[in-house]
Amino acid sequence: MLRRRSERDFTVSSAFCERVDLWHATDSMASEMEVSDFMYSLIRLLKPGIVLETGCYTGVTTLRMARALKTNRYGRMATCDVRENLVAEINHASRRRSLPLEAFSESGVELISRFDAIDLAFIDSGGDRQEEVSRVRAKMNRFGVIALHDTAPHHPESRIQNSIDLPWLYMNTPRGLTLFQVR
Ligand SMILES: C[S@@+](CC[C@H](N)C(=O)[O-])C[C@H]1O[C@@H](n2cnc3c(N)ncnc32)[C@H](O)[C@@H]1O
Repeated sequence: MLRRRSERDFTVSSAFCERVDLWHATDSMASEMEVSDFMYSLIRLLKPGIVLETGCYTGVTTLRMARALKTNRYGRMATCDVRENLVAEINHASRRRSLPLEAFSESGVELISRFDAIDLAFIDSGGDRQEEVSRVRAKMNRFGVIALHDTAPHHPESRIQNSIDLPWLYMNTPRGLTLFQVR
């Protein structure tokens, strides 16, 4: 069982986000739980057919997103990680809970290349996220959403949001989440 801790253990308070103690995460690699909750709600709201995540890690967000698809009774999800043991654990959890989710032991770029059309992408791998965003962008369906994590000013990923010519909305969480929409 992963223990929920205050985000102040992982992110230093800053002028951008002073009350980091209000968010939670299991460790410094897993997304803020509030980001996972948000991705769950986004799937419940938008009813996407094809959902992708790059970098599943321990599956905190992966399993929440897949649960939303199951509740929708529509859509399927693919995720990946370069760590085989993590992928095996996600596939085991997916089978046990009968989720519409498959995890692949490969890079985010490889995962994206499997699909022709995508409705929602959560870009969160430890690989080249700039490359992942530009490749996924070319495959997004109209009104599709790309959610790029770790875009707070102290992360290098913050530079990506200005290099993509799509409208975006910055969600000011401790680590930052930027949503791009394909119109
Ligand atoms: C920040 S963690 C992902 C957190 C997870 N999405 C969540 O919401 O809790 C990044 C993960 O990306 C994996 N990773 C590293 N390089 C990768 C690559 N090129 N493609 C896919 N995953 C990669 C790491 O093994 C790690 O598990």
